[in-house]
Amino acid sequence: MQNFNFSKLENRENTMAAKWDKRAEIFGSEDVLPLWVADSDWQTAPAVKQKLIERAEAGIFGYSFADQSIYQAVEDWLQKRFELKIDREWLLFDTGVVPAINFTLKAITEENDAVIIQPPVYRPFFGAVKANNCRPIKNELIKEDNHYQMDLANLKLEIKKAKEKGERVRAMIFCSPHNPVGRVWQEDELLKLLRLLKKEDIYLLSDEIHSDLIYPGYKHQPVLKLLLAREEFKDYRQKVVSFMAASKTFNIAGLHTSYTIIESKKLRQAYNKAKEGFGTGNSPFGLLALKTAYNQGEEWLEAQLKYLESNYNFLKEYLQERLPQIKAVEAEGTYLVWLDCSELGFENDEQLIEFMNKKAKVGLNPGRWFGDAGSMHMRLNLACPRERLKEGLDRIKEAVKNNL
Ligand SMILES: Cc1ncc(COP(=O)(O)O)c(C=O)c1O
Repeated sequence: MQNFNFSKLENRENTMAAKWDKRAEIFGSEDVLPLWVADSDWQTAPAVKQKLIERAEAGIFGYSFADQSIYQAVEDWLQKRFELKIDREWLLFDTGVVPAINFTLKAITEENDAVIIQPPVYRPFFGAVKANNCRPIKNELIKEDNHYQMDLANLKLEIKKAKEKGERVRAMIFCSPHNPVGRVWQEDELLKLLRLLKKEDIYLLSDEIHSDLIYPGYKHQPVLKLLLAREEFKDYRQKVVSFMAASKTFNIAGLHTSYTIIESKKLRQAYNKAKEGFGTGNSPFGLLALKTAYNQGEEWLEAQLKYLESNYNFLKEYLQERLPQIKAVEAEGTYLVWLDCSELGFENDEQLIEFMNKKAKVGLNPGRWFGDAGSMHMRLNLACPRERLKEGLDRIKEAVKNNL
């Protein structure tokens, strides 16, 4: 096994990295240690870097498209990692999952349709519903013993209420694995949800961008795989769209490339129509990075997963032993950790945020960014060298001590 170095402290300042160079704008100071936005502080897989260097050497960066080799790489990856077999024609390439979610809503919704989301959840889901002039049904996750679950009983009620008001409940935007709470939804949970959506004739937009980042003992189940394996969903599959990317997995989010899987020909046509006029072509770097990551990056990914696991174990132990006022939810997937800060003693979110930014000088995503259900929580990104993670935790611990 090759030796990959995830501990190296890369200097990302003055590289136009949003995570680092937007600190003053976002946190009010350049002194904060950034542990926020979902990108990693280490270099991508060496094979990806090498191919991009070679491509840059060629010096011509004209318009590009996904050739058959890109389709092949994606098909192989889905088969190899998830035992998901798709037809090539279901696959579409996009510049990102967020634009792809917006195109899908544009294709299927009308003004004032209701769209379900499950907060606390990735904030652009709220934005996508709003941008498409729909009303969000916020079916908040339930938290019990520091573990999150979907509230399907409440969802049934919300759907009923919406229908009684004469609303059309058109779609659900689903996060799997779930950012920020780190859940990897299991087969029985997914099947219950899928049966409900099928019964109510609701489109499912399944954002699976974090699907490669799974901790030992858990398994990501693409919804499409579950649907394909069951005759009962043959028709319902026509209402399902899946979104994936190599961007989080291989730290290439800045190259703006994702893919969308739509089995229904009719829906694919509507989707492509919704995209018209938006200038949605892919960059040659993004496509090449995706292909190389999937064809040559698996060993690097396995090493990264081990590093993330050890970072998570470090954080868990640190909190238990030295900072017990903060509780992390059990990490199942994603490199994001959801921290319950309610026992730090602050009266409201403003105080908590001010404390983290100004006193501890760490840049975390405030829980409320993910909806009201995220109140008194913070999201921490642990995809960074251990030394940096420790520095962040030390800063919080010191500030807590001085604040008592
Ligand atoms: C759940 C989820 N979806 C989408 C994205 C962003 O996707 P993209 O950059 O491809 O638009 C993120 C980034 O953090 C995410 O966490």
